[in-house]
Amino acid sequence: MTIILDGKALRDKLLGDLKVKIDKSEIKPGLSVILVGNDSASQIYVNNKRKTAEKLGIKSEVIEYPADVEENVILDKINELNQDDSVHAILVQLPLPEHINKLKIIDAISPQKDVDCFTTINYGKLAAGLEPAVYPCTPKGILLLLDEYNIDLDGKHVVVVGRSNLVGKPMSLMALKRNATVTTCHSHTKNLKSITKTADVVISAVGEVLIEEDMINENIIVVDVGISRDKNGKIRGDVNFETVCGKTSYISPVPGGVGPMTIASLMLNTYELFEKSLKRS
Ligand code: GUN
Repeated sequence: MTIILDGKALRDKLLGDLKVKIDKSEIKPGLSVILVGNDSASQIYVNNKRKTAEKLGIKSEVIEYPADVEENVILDKINELNQDDSVHAILVQLPLPEHINKLKIIDAISPQKDVDCFTTINYGKLAAGLEPAVYPCTPKGILLLLDEYNIDLDGKHVVVVGRSNLVGKPMSLMALKRNATVTTCHSHTKNLKSITKTADVVISAVGEVLIEEDMINENIIVVDVGISRDKNGKIRGDVNFETVCGKTSYISPVPGGVGPMTIASLMLNTYELFEKSLKRS
């Protein structure tokens, strides 16, 4: 029997609990999002983040700049947000336009307000197995989803497909921290199928349909992080869900699996940074 990893249900549960905590708090957590340019996917993501934050009682603002904004304008804004005690979490939506030095922008964020775990300090701590201020949203959401279904990664062979800084790489590091045996595959991997065939868990974060039924063994766990659109504009993941689903013990759907968990993690991270700032003051 296959069990669907229901990210929407878990998001609703986690955010319901979080709202109770925020309602009780006199001071409210603050999340500031910087959005540069008019990438339509980014606009949708940022809007979802803002709406979710507002529903929870998180004070959220979206600071928008045109695509040709000068780097210094963004740096000045980040410095201002770093100093602002009502802002506990800062997120710079990626991608940024080409002319902007992404690393310089990210590293301008105070590590204590780095809600994505993108700064060199926090990412370095993550890589070294130390505690970053908070963990990256998508891998954190995936682990919360697996925890909800009592799926323990200890000793399992976890095959992560994709090595992006946003998902694949931190996912591999976090699975390793959970004592999984981790293989990270990517576009240069030879014979991907020979590796996915040995997996207990496949986590795919590529953005195109590539996990087919003949690439996995029976009863494995499949987590689908991919998001793309088919030729009719319908949202789909990296996994050929129809053929793969029946072979798995657990599988996350797209939509309704990892996506809602990423947003939930962002809200949880905002609250964690808020709590840590209260403890410091
Ligand atoms: N662009 C796509 N996903 C993300 C994310 O999780 N955080 C940020 N900052 N930008 C993104």
